[in-house]
Amino acid sequence: MFNYLDQDKNQCEFFQIVPVEDLPNGERLFVEVDDKKIILFNLAGNLYALGDVCTHDDGPVGDGEIDGHEIICPRHGTRFNISTGQATSLPAVVDIPAYPIRVANIFCLYAPTIFKNASDSIARCDKP
Ligand code: FES
Repeated sequence: MFNYLDQDKNQCEFFQIVPVEDLPNGERLFVEVDDKKIILFNLAGNLYALGDVCTHDDGPVGDGEIDGHEIICPRHGTRFNISTGQATSLPAVVDIPAYPIRVANIFCLYAPTIFKNASDSIARCDKP
């Protein structure tokens, strides 16, 4: 899958997602942008955005345990680097999408051009 961290931001739409205080340290939030499921993480005050998709079976990975800087897929245990989306263990061998973000007072996501028509379709769905 494509890693959007290197995407030219001029090619991206910029969406305001949630106020920063809605994502406290150690927490994660689940949002949807144009039917794309995205997980927002706050790890020790550093914020990240990953696609909520395991490349092993295309199911969600966001409910997985977090170990340091990695999230562990709840089905077969592939570890993904939360800051880059890189698959760091088997069985998945393909990275999951990582998205560039910007934080001011609002947690913002730079989304690639495939999301360009999605500005009205951001949905927040917190999971327990
Ligand atoms: S579904 Fe994620 S590792 Fe198998």
